[in-house]
Amino acid sequence: MSEQAHHEETGGRLVLSDAFMEHALTPRNLGVLPEPAAMGQAKGTCGDLMEMYLRVEDGAVVTARFLPHGCMHTVACGSVLTGQLEGLTLEQALSITPDQVEEDLGGLPREHRHCAALAVAALRAAVREHYQDRRSPWKRLYQRD
Ligand code: FES
Repeated sequence: MSEQAHHEETGGRLVLSDAFMEHALTPRNLGVLPEPAAMGQAKGTCGDLMEMYLRVEDGAVVTARFLPHGCMHTVACGSVLTGQLEGLTLEQALSITPDQVEEDLGGLPREHRHCAALAVAALRAAVREHYQDRRSPWKRLYQRD
């Protein structure tokens, strides 16, 4: 963990980093995108869900939104991850790891490290849907209400 990690468990007390608090309390990119954005959904090991929406132009992410159905840590993770995505190619987006999300939050408590993995899994599902749509755009007619 980096020098700037502020998630410290000292004497049983958890100290949350400023970055974590900022993203958890005033999340960026929270919400959904209308079609034709790609949407991916993932379920975490805890059973919580996250939806990720991507608008892609010329192979790069131009807009990302997320909708968490889980804990405060997923909110912070989705906020950081969608911020990291802006302007990245899909290939670069796919290389983002849960550790990178956690690092930008100044660390996560051990029992919430899977929340970063959930955010990354939702991103990967959205990228997968983007590629599937490009191959068979007609399928959208049957997949959504
Ligand atoms: Fe379930 Fe954070 S995603 S506890």
